[in-house]
Amino acid sequence: MKLNIKDQVEQYDGIIIPLFENELATQVLQLPLDDLSGSKKFEGKSGSTYKLTAVVESKLREVVLLGLGKAEDLTYKKLLHAFASGYRLMKKQKVEHIVLHIDNLKDQDLLARAATEAVLMADYKYDLKTKKDEEKEIVLDLITSVSLDVINESYILAESNLIARDLVNQPSNRMYPVALAEKVTELGQEKGFEVEVLDYDQIKALKMESFIAVGKASAHEPRFIIMRYKGDPENEDVLGYVGKGLTYDSGGLSIKPTASMATMKSDMAGSAAVIGAMCAISELKLKKNVTAVVAACENMISGNSYRPGDVIDSMGGKTIYIGNTDAEGRLTLIDAMHYIVTKENVSKVLDIATLTGAAIYCTGDAASPVISNNDDFFNQLQESFDLSGEQIWRMPIFDEYKELIKHEEADLTNTAGNPGTITAGLFIGEFNGDLPWIHVDIAGTSFSKKEAGILSKGGTGVAVRPLYYLAKN
Ligand code: BES
Ligand code: MN
Ligand code: ZN
Repeated sequence: MKLNIKDQVEQYDGIIIPLFENELATQVLQLPLDDLSGSKKFEGKSGSTYKLTAVVESKLREVVLLGLGKAEDLTYKKLLHAFASGYRLMKKQKVEHIVLHIDNLKDQDLLARAATEAVLMADYKYDLKTKKDEEKEIVLDLITSVSLDVINESYILAESNLIARDLVNQPSNRMYPVALAEKVTELGQEKGFEVEVLDYDQIKALKMESFIAVGKASAHEPRFIIMRYKGDPENEDVLGYVGKGLTYDSGGLSIKPTASMATMKSDMAGSAAVIGAMCAISELKLKKNVTAVVAACENMISGNSYRPGDVIDSMGGKTIYIGNTDAEGRLTLIDAMHYIVTKENVSKVLDIATLTGAAIYCTGDAASPVISNNDDFFNQLQESFDLSGEQIWRMPIFDEYKELIKHEEADLTNTAGNPGTITAGLFIGEFNGDLPWIHVDIAGTSFSKKEAGILSKGGTGVAVRPLYYLAKN
C-alpha cells in the first residue's frame, strides 16, 4: 500500500468517512449524509460501519461510513479498530484508490496518528507462498492538515510493529539464534543502533550456565544479542530491555503436545518487541539511552538435554532446581537480566516474554499481565500502553508468592506452581539487582489466531509501540 498525505480530495474510487455519533450532519463531498439522521441504518455508534455505492461526479464510488461513537468515549484502541475495519472493507471490495477523509473532524493529530498506524498494520499479511496473488498496489490518500512530523512518527511506529510481526512469523527452521542475530545486526546498521553478538564461547566465559542449559540440546548454537542506543550520551540514565528469545520451544524432555508446539516459533516475541522498539527509538532519534538484550536459543531434545531433576548454575550465582524443562524462558531471562544490570549500567529494567500459558488464563488475548516492584515505573508503562491502544493489567505480588520460588535442594526452583504467571515473573525478579523493574507476560497477546482490525494472523507486534513511548516519555 502507498500512503499519501493530502489536504484535499483529488482522485478516488472509494472513500472512508469516519463520523461521531449524533454528528452525522457534516457535509463530505456532495454526499447527503444528513439523510441518515434519524434512520436506524447508521448512527455513528462505535464499531459500526455502513457501506454504500454512490454516484459522485458521474462515477461509481464505494463509500464506507465509520462509526466512532461519542467523542467523549473515544479511545485510541477504538480509533485504531475503526480505521483498520474501514480499510479492510475497502480492500475486500477491491478498491484501488482509497480516500480516508478525517479533515472535517476535531482532534486531528490523534485521528491522523491512528489512521496512519491502523491502515499500515491492517494491510500486513505474511506468507511464504511462491506465487503471490496478483493484486494492484492500493493507494490511500489521507486527507488531513496535520504536520508531517506527526504522521512520520506513526509511520515508523507501524513499520516497527511490522518488523516485529515478521520476526515472529518466520518459521523456526529459518529463524534460529544465528539468523536472528544476523537480522538484528542488519537492522542496527539500517536504523542506527549498535549491535554486539556474543557467541557460545563468550556466553560460556560469562558463566551464563542457566541460559546455556536451555539451549544445549539444539543443533543451533545460542547467541547473546546486545543492542545499544545512545541518544543522550551526557546523561547517565539508561533504560534496559530484556526480551525472551526462544526461537523454538519444544518443551525439551518435558515435551509439549503437538498442538501447543505448532505455534512455538512465536516464543521469541518478547525479543521481537524489544528489537522493534529499538528500531523505532533509533529511527526517530530519541534523546534517550536504551540498551536491550536477547538470550537467543532453542529448547530442543537430544542426549545433551538438561533434565527434570537437574540442579543448574546461573550467572548471578544462584543454583536452580529444574522441575520442568518447559519452564525454560525464565532460565534464559535470569542470565540476560543479571548481565544487563551488572554489565550495562542500566538504571531501570523491563523484561518481556511469552513466559506462561497461565497468562492466557489471567487476561486472554485482551491484555498482557504485568508485575512490577515500582509504582512510578509501572504508571509510566500504563501511560505508554494507553497511548498505543494496547492493554496491560497489573497483578499483585503477595508475600506468599515469594516463598513459592524457593527450593529445598537449590536456591530456587523453575517450577513454582500457581499463580504461574506471577511466580514465573518473581523468579526473574530475583535477578533485577533491586532496580525499578517491570515484567510483562505476552503469552496471550503476541500471536493472533485470526485476522481482525489491526491484527493479522500470527505475530501481533505487541508492545513495540508502547516500549517506544516508554523510552520517549
Ligand atoms: N513458551 C511457553 C509459554 C507459552 C504458552 C507461550 C502458550 C505462548 C503460548 C513457556 O516456555 C512454557 O512452556 N511455560 C510453561 C511453564 C510451566 C511448565 C511451569 C507453561 O506455561 O505451561
Ligand atoms: Mn516452555
Ligand atoms: Zn517458552
